[in-house]
Amino acid sequence: MTTAEPTDTAETTHRITLKINGRAYKQDVEPRKMLAYAIRDTGLRGTHVGCDSSSCGCCVVVLDGDTPVKSCTMFAVQAEGREITTVEGLGAPGALHPLQQAFWDQHGLQCGYCTPGMLMTSYAMLQHHTDPTDQEVREFLGGNLCRCTGYNNIVKAVQQAAQALRDDQAGKLDTLAAAATGGSQ
Ligand code: FES
Ligand code: FES
Repeated sequence: MTTAEPTDTAETTHRITLKINGRAYKQDVEPRKMLAYAIRDTGLRGTHVGCDSSSCGCCVVVLDGDTPVKSCTMFAVQAEGREITTVEGLGAPGALHPLQQAFWDQHGLQCGYCTPGMLMTSYAMLQHHTDPTDQEVREFLGGNLCRCTGYNNIVKAVQQAAQALRDDQAGKLDTLAAAATGGSQ
């Protein structure tokens, strides 16, 4: 008696569209394909895979602007219809996001392997907590492991970025107030 082997046919794949950093990527994926690999297969390789088991946080991406997820343990098909932000969506050379600038300024990385996940978890946190304490930053980053830096500089970097974003927001409010009063203050 022979046992039928499962086959990789078109019937076992799904055509999905992933919206990553504002751009749509179509892909044929098996139902078991994890989001981290689907993202990397688009050519966006900033999302790293460290443990493949939801332990290290290297693969964190942000869903719908403010929710961090470990993309190594989410199926790609589950991400269809969601807004995905990866580290490539944060800034660009010459126009770094305040978090990227702060990690640079504070030496918040050495080898950099954990850095995309650190940045994306921090980015999500700052959507909810604009003035986190040292302890809150450490708690938020509890699922992100770094083998190199000892974390202190990462925490300093996140707080520098939080301050920069608050200053930026205050500056925007001042500009709006000036515009509302015709610039007379
Ligand atoms: S690769 Fe996803 S948590 Fe480690
Ligand atoms: S900077 Fe090397 S693992 Fe974090």
